[in-house]
Amino acid sequence: MADTQEKKQIILSGIQPTGTFTLGNYIGAIRNWVHLQEEYDCAYMIADMHSLTVRQEPAKLRQQILSAFAVLLACGVDPEKSLMFIQSHVYQHAELNWVLACNTQFGELSRMTQFKDKSAKHPENINAGLFTYPSLMAADILLYQANLVPVGVDQKQHLEITRDIAIRFNNNYGPTFTIPEPYIPEVGAKVMSLADPAKKMSKSDENQNAFITILDPPEVIIRKFKRAVTDSDMEIRYAEGKDGINNLMSIYSVLTGDSYETIERDFSGKGYGDFKLAVGEVVAEALRPIRENYDRVMKDKAYLEEVYRAGAQKAGYTAEKTMRKVYRKVGFLAK
Ligand code: TYM
Repeated sequence: MADTQEKKQIILSGIQPTGTFTLGNYIGAIRNWVHLQEEYDCAYMIADMHSLTVRQEPAKLRQQILSAFAVLLACGVDPEKSLMFIQSHVYQHAELNWVLACNTQFGELSRMTQFKDKSAKHPENINAGLFTYPSLMAADILLYQANLVPVGVDQKQHLEITRDIAIRFNNNYGPTFTIPEPYIPEVGAKVMSLADPAKKMSKSDENQNAFITILDPPEVIIRKFKRAVTDSDMEIRYAEGKDGINNLMSIYSVLTGDSYETIERDFSGKGYGDFKLAVGEVVAEALRPIRENYDRVMKDKAYLEEVYRAGAQKAGYTAEKTMRKVYRKVGFLAK
């Protein structure tokens, strides 16, 4: 896939199928994927291979992969417009991972904050896959010659190492990969925990009140927002030191399109309770159609299977083209 003027730019992104997706995944990533498919040539995948870096229960993982795929469809990722597939269905991801791992340094992998965080969290299972995780992510992106990668802020470092690996490979072996750019939204790139607004909202949080899942029913969403941790100040104002309110304001702003100034004006003189309820209602309304679509899509297993099979075939075609080029460049003998 060479870059030409008339060709649309290529987008690739992925999400791990562990647990139900959160409001953070939605606002930081999936919502943007849906918008971007109108203008770009998009590929979106379920990163099931990445999930093995943490111990999974096989039967549960299998169910979660299918459910994650259905959530993407329910959110509006459209297989008529975007390529949708499951990472493990396209074996070239594992193949390119190996070649890239041999072009990635121990030192640069050791600096990854996600590796440090995850190994601190799972000291009993600091496996080699967890360490080389960024090289598999680089393979995901580089196989499709992506120009842009829409992600939340927490993936920025993985994008930087992907660029470094691609640039190094191109320098050593000649032009092979497109150098991708991260695409990070200005607002909502890091949705914070509702229980501790200094922490990222994460599906692996032990405190159920810390995160909203895309499939939470309206009453649960509103209850969790009512309990959201804020501060002892009384003003609804975006300011340093007001992490809880800042987080609620950014969620509200992304979903309504209102600027921070408008929100401050509309809620001036009102209490935190009123604002929390308003944010809860806006989120519940935004997620309502997704939940309804999900229930419908999940019932149609034949359709799900049809979409992921077609996706794997199409993705495999592009991936194989890149792989042949890579093997030639590194000096392997053609089959
Ligand atoms: P994952 O599954 O942790 O998250 C999927 C996407 O959601 C974003 N995100 C958030 N955005 C804002 N606020 C939050 N609290 C929040 N939590 C998560 C993430 O930034 C991400 O964009 N390694 C990736 C999956 C992956 C991938 C790829 C991504 C595999 N291969 C290739 C891009 C390109 C991951 O674990 O994301």
